[in-house]
Formats: sequence, C-alpha cells, structure tokens
Amino acid sequence: MKNLIQERFQLPTFPIIQAPMAGTFTPPSFIATVCEAGALGTLGAGYLNPEDLRAQIQEIKKLTQKPFAVNLFIPTPVHLDQKKIEESKKILARYHAELGITAEPKLNWDEKLFEKQFQVVLEEKVPVFSFAFGSLSADKMQTLQAQGVFIIGTATSLEEGLFLEKIGCDAIAAQGAEAGGHRGSFLDGKFPLIPVQELVEQIVDNVQIPVLAAGGIVDGNDVREAKKWGAQGVQVGTAFLVCKESTAAPEFKKRLLTNSSGSTILTKAFSGRWARGVSNRFMQEMKSFEEDLPDYPLQNSLTQVLRKYATEKGLSDFMSLWAGTGVGRLKELSIRELIKQLTA
Ligand SMILES: Cc1cc2nc3c(=O)[nH]c(=O)nc-3n(C[C@H](O)[C@H](O)[C@H](O)COP(=O)(O)O)c2cc1C
Repeated sequence: MKNLIQERFQLPTFPIIQAPMAGTFTPPSFIATVCEAGALGTLGAGYLNPEDLRAQIQEIKKLTQKPFAVNLFIPTPVHLDQKKIEESKKILARYHAELGITAEPKLNWDEKLFEKQFQVVLEEKVPVFSFAFGSLSADKMQTLQAQGVFIIGTATSLEEGLFLEKIGCDAIAAQGAEAGGHRGSFLDGKFPLIPVQELVEQIVDNVQIPVLAAGGIVDGNDVREAKKWGAQGVQVGTAFLVCKESTAAPEFKKRLLTNSSGSTILTKAFSGRWARGVSNRFMQEMKSFEEDLPDYPLQNSLTQVLRKYATEKGLSDFMSLWAGTGVGRLKELSIRELIKQLTA
C-alpha cells in the first residue's frame, strides 16, 4: 500500500514524526536535525509569543530546506471560577513558602495569543500545521488549505477522528492513553483513555486519511507494531526528549532515564488539563484537589512561577515531567541514532 505521508514529504523511510513538545526542549537546531535525519520535525509552539514563534520558524528554515511542522494549542473557553482560583492560589502559596519563592502565584495568560500565533504561521507559510486541544474553524482550515499546508489534527477517540476528517484534516495523530504530555481531547468535555493500538485500529477502519500512532513508541519494534495496526506513521515524543541534543532540564532527563516503567500517571495538578508525566511529590500531594482546580490555562498560569523555579533549581518534585509510558525503556541517543533505531 502507498504511504501518503512518506510520498508527500519524500521521507526515506516509514514516517517518523517528532512530536510537538511545547516548552524549552527542542530548539530550532533540534527540529532541523530531525528533518535532516529523515524524519519530520515539529516545533511545539503552543506557549511561544508571536515574535519568538516567527524567529524560531525562520531559524529552522535557515538550517534546513526539508519540510517541518508547527503545532499550536486551540484555545478553549475560559471559565473564571474565582473560588477555585483563590483556593488554588492558597495551596500553591504553601509550596512557594516552603521553597522560599517570593513571587506569588498569579493569573497571566493572553486570550488573543492563538490568533496572533496563527497569523505568524500563515505569514511564514509553514509546510505542515498540527493542532491539539480543539478544532480549527472553517475559515482557518480554508486559509491553510489555500496555502497548500498539510494539516494534522489530534484525536483521542474515534468520534474525534471522524470529526477531524470531516473538517478537512489531511492526517490524524491518534493519541493513545500511553502518550506523554497533555491529552489532546476536545469533544464534549470528555478525556478518553483508549490504548494506542485500539485507537489507531478504530480510526484506520473508519477514515480515508492517514493515521499516525502516538503514545509509548520508543523503538523499532514499536514502529513495526504500529505499521501492523494500519498507521501510516508514528508520532514520537518522549524518546526524543532524552536525546543528547534535547535541551530538557538535566534533572528532567535524569528522571526519564532512571525511572522504571509504570512510573507515569495522569494529573491535572500542573495545568488544569489532564496530562501524563512521571509521578512526583507535587502530583501525589495535589491528587485530592484535582477536581477542584481551575481549568486550563488558568491553573497552568498559576503554577508557572513554581515550575520555572523548580526547573532553574533542578527540583524535579515540582517540575511537570511530561512523559509517556515508554519511560523505563528509554536510552540517551543522538537524534540520528534514535531515528535509525526507530526505522531499523
Ligand atoms: C514534554 C511533552 C510535551 C508535549 N507537548 C505537546 C504539544 O505542545 N502539542 C501537542 O499536540 N502534543 C504535545 N505532546 C504530546 C505529543 O504530541 C504526543 O502525543 C506524545 O508525545 C506521544 O507519546 P510519547 O511521548 O509516549 O511518545 C507533548 C508530549 C510531551 C512528552
């Protein structure tokens, strides 16, 4: 069977997509190296301001002629629940006091950020656009299509996959329960947790567009399995996070490389949205408050000071250690070695 993604992007092997990972883990040089090594790199730009987004896209273009993707978070309606916000601030203030952080937890997010980011994506004419947490409006889909952009949506259920095909996506990243980072779910306020094999098989059976398997894929065996499920590519995050060229904080990498399998859990504690990461003290202690926290992006902004401080000081018990269930099977390889292993 023809592999549409491999053909479209002239990839030398079965398509490996380096998953978008918003944060400071994969600088432009990382993404360009992925592309030069025969995979498709993605700039996880969800948290970037428009100026940094433009600069990073331009930097990637300087470093490689190969196609690459830019990924954004679709904003969801924000419900300012003052009671939840105040309660969360109180809980977080105790951690600030314990760690000696003088700044207070505060709300700080830009409601117009996505519109500004999207404008940059259009102006910079990126080859591939992927998105998560929501759906793209018809006019935005049409504008991207008119520019010839390849569009990848994220689905965590068959319903979401069908929805993404209907609105005109070119491919679907099927995010299984095993996946690291935030759940990309967007329909009916649900957060399905379907194992990646089951999810890929369900979606492949019901759509005509290519499906990418995402979640817990770390080596060539996993990639061969994903092919059998009918996937036309894989989207790999955590295995790239521990690459030698990744700029993830040393303590983060250390936890990923030394923790055993089964050490990741789902949490809402850091951002107000379900996400998978290596379990730490903050996640454990916040468990009982999880249902009472303000939604994303409010909780995400309230924990920002704590997360930044923890990263600077190497305190992995207070960092959001996003990772998939592949933890326990990870190796610190170079980008080229990892891609070679995934395609072996
Ligand atoms: C550190 C980290 C950050 C992530 N950030 C994003 C993101 O910005 N956008 C997105 O669509 N997915 C994001 N994801 C999810 C990935 O797209 C993908 O579903 C996941 O990495 C696949 O599972 P794996 O980590 O087990 O390979 C992130 C995952 C991780 C581990």
